[in-house]
Amino acid sequence: MPSPKKDRRAVFLPDAAGERGPGFTGREIQDLGKAFARASLIAKAAGFDAVELHGAHGYLLAAFLSPFSNTRDDAYGGSFEGRFRFVQEVYEGVRNAVGPSYPILFRLSGREYLEGGRQMEETLRIARRLEEIGFDALDVSAGITMDAEAFTWLAPPASFPQGAFLGDAAEIKRAVGIPVIGVGKIRDPRFAEKALAEGQADFVALGRALIADPEWPNKALAGRTREIRRCISCNRCWSILYRLPIRCAINARAGRERALPMSPSLRRQRVAVVGGGPAGWKRRGWRRKEATRSPSSRKKNTWADNCGWRLFLRGSRISRASWHI
Ligand SMILES: Cc1cc2nc3c(=O)[nH]c(=O)nc-3n(C[C@H](O)[C@H](O)[C@H](O)COP(=O)(O)O)c2cc1C
Ligand code: SF4
Repeated sequence: MPSPKKDRRAVFLPDAAGERGPGFTGREIQDLGKAFARASLIAKAAGFDAVELHGAHGYLLAAFLSPFSNTRDDAYGGSFEGRFRFVQEVYEGVRNAVGPSYPILFRLSGREYLEGGRQMEETLRIARRLEEIGFDALDVSAGITMDAEAFTWLAPPASFPQGAFLGDAAEIKRAVGIPVIGVGKIRDPRFAEKALAEGQADFVALGRALIADPEWPNKALAGRTREIRRCISCNRCWSILYRLPIRCAINARAGRERALPMSPSLRRQRVAVVGGGPAGWKRRGWRRKEATRSPSSRKKNTWADNCGWRLFLRGSRISRASWHI
């Protein structure tokens, strides 16, 4: 039997036994439940307005729920009730710890996108049960970490449409009465407003949009949507998976905010911007029209006419239409 430490998947799996490694004992399951309660209490004491239990992406609670990963044949596996048991116990422990009026949210994958994984039909049953036992809101993501293709759904890449999981959120919202949060490649405030107005979700959540531009919400609120630096869904920021510092392809300050503070210069300076690609444009604050007005571009057919040319070529490809550069 392979060592569970060497099998990366075993970290998340509640199996009773088998090639995936030994499963948790009943005692370990109880200890884990207590750890959720303790952590939630710490979050409340630290001033957070709510806690969200992570039941998506194949993490512990999700691993118990999923028919793919939960192959136990004891009280914590097998039937729907068995696979749900751990979530129910964790909820009860957390609720006892944080009190009756403190919001507890649950994040779940609408679909796991994996053979043998959970489909929407069972997700709807889980959603109803989560509401019934007392959860205050559901946060609908997608995918599972135990398979490379299913993993893609966690942070949908450039080829996926905007609002990639909103359809799932809408389906779950129709099944429950508690608020539903939609997430997944939401880039444009107008798109987000439309999704809310159409009732696809009660809230939208942003992930990478905020890494690319932490001012996204303020700019949206002030109607300065054209100024938003939009995430291009390249997933450079997944560097954190390899325990590397977070970096963003279009926000040089991401993960280095202290090292690269933004403050106005104390004296006026002349700065030469070398290069007419996206970085050069951004630094200068030019748009193509303005660039042609710069002193260096008065003659026809000069550098400015070709400024960012490769970018326009690439942007013209259909598959990259959603890059929003
Ligand atoms: C760098 C990075 C780290 C993430 N870490 C987590 C995480 O720890 N837990 C989680 O539930 N989702 C995590 N996600 C997924 C996001 O919460 C979000 O659901 C996903 O990125 C899709 O939304 P977005 O298109 O707005 O980024 C992460 C995503 C990225 C890009
Ligand atoms: S690196 Fe930046 S632009 Fe690329 S996906 Fe992450 S947040 Fe978006």
